[in-house]
Amino acid sequence: MSISTRARATPTLGRRARATRTNALRDTGVTRDGLRAAEKQRVVVDVDGVGKVLLQEFANDVYAVSNKCPHLGLSLQGKTPLLSATVSDGAIACPAHGSAFDLKTGEARGEWCPKLPALPVVGKKYCGEPTAIASYAVSVDESGAIKIDA
Ligand code: FES
Repeated sequence: MSISTRARATPTLGRRARATRTNALRDTGVTRDGLRAAEKQRVVVDVDGVGKVLLQEFANDVYAVSNKCPHLGLSLQGKTPLLSATVSDGAIACPAHGSAFDLKTGEARGEWCPKLPALPVVGKKYCGEPTAIASYAVSVDESGAIKIDA
């Protein structure tokens, strides 16, 4: 899994300087047993300083990716069953237009926006360029607590 680093602007004496946030292990408040028991073996948590992170168990491993699809910013796992991503072959697909992302790396996989209908007048899709989602290294301690490196 890749480790995401983000830069943020920090005001300094009237100028703006860029500072890189240091990654740290952040507790998700979810245990391995809790994730296994969850519907679709999936939980979305709001991690301090990171935002909504989707935890997914797949093939006996735990993955963590951003819950926000980079296409239109919709949730991969929303609050209703209609907005619920599908997982297949190590990738998670957005419920809106079907763009899929590798659970390990966050990279876009396959056709971008395959479910987006073509515009009748123009006859083509407007869906932008394939874009990765943030993915986070996961560790599970001896008590089963899931932490992400973010
Ligand atoms: S919002 Fe996710 S593919 Fe369009």
